[in-house]
Amino acid sequence: MSDYANLKIEKEADIAVLTISRPEALNALNSETIEELDKALTEIEADDSVKVLILTGGPDKKGNAFKSFVAGADIKEMVNFTAPEARAFGIKASVPFFKLQNMRQVTIAAVNGFALGGGCEIAMSCDIRIASDNAVFGQPECGLGIIPGFGGTQRLARLVGMGRAKEMIFTCDNINAEEAYRIGLVNHVVAQDELMNCAKEMAKKIASKGSYAVSIAKAAINNGYDMDIKNAVEMEANLFGVVNDTADKKEGMNAFIERRPAELKDF
Ligand code: CAA
Repeated sequence: MSDYANLKIEKEADIAVLTISRPEALNALNSETIEELDKALTEIEADDSVKVLILTGGPDKKGNAFKSFVAGADIKEMVNFTAPEARAFGIKASVPFFKLQNMRQVTIAAVNGFALGGGCEIAMSCDIRIASDNAVFGQPECGLGIIPGFGGTQRLARLVGMGRAKEMIFTCDNINAEEAYRIGLVNHVVAQDELMNCAKEMAKKIASKGSYAVSIAKAAINNGYDMDIKNAVEMEANLFGVVNDTADKKEGMNAFIERRPAELKDF
């Protein structure tokens, strides 16, 4: 993996942990970090040894690891943006955000503190969100005179429903981790010192399944979500056909019949 100014990547067995690290700005996303994210995700997607990616935020400048996941897009960079520059910034971020959403590996956001604006938006681009009990979610953009520009108006409504998304975006009210769990914005809330363990345990469980099957299931869910049900189910049947022609399918089903644990390998 390359070296990055604002990212750290660690690999453990089948799992990569990508940490966004700008301690001086609570991990806010500036252009450089967005470009690095794009490059890092391309590298991770091409790495056969990685089956699950965990995305998290690094400590603040005082070393507090649970202060902030990502405190948004970088306001100090955006303050002088013209309309075309702001549009280009949104488009630039959409590329790595779509990579998180659509890459073949499962992506888990381990949300360790503030997930505001672009921070909430990058967490929503991941497949699964696990939050520490002190995490805070919000879309404060309308209070800054802008709107969410990294997919928030679209992904929040799809995740929690239009009414709740509109309330969060129009009022700019932050919500705590329990409320985020209650409305379906996060999958689990855990104690701070359990956050990475919980994310890694889930990652290990996912990595132990048929990785090719998991990646095809992810594609089926993502691609079908915005289709009509008839075409979506037909698309699923086509992909169901594809995964029936793999070594993992033979091993998985034979292992069941022979009453032994399956050893799944495909990617
Ligand atoms: N951009 C740039 N710098 C940021 C930042 C951001 N989004 N969030 C925090 N920082 C910086 C602060 O300016 C501060 O730097 P200095 O010490 O140099 O002044 C440092 O991080 C620490 O922050 P605070 O002193 O503010 O810490 P706090 O504990 O008092 O407050 C906070 C924490 C509530 C998260 C507060 O920092 C905050 O409100 N941040 C902004 C959150 C926000 O509005 N995010 C949305 C951005 S817009 C967006 O994301 C648009 C989009 O969709 C594309």
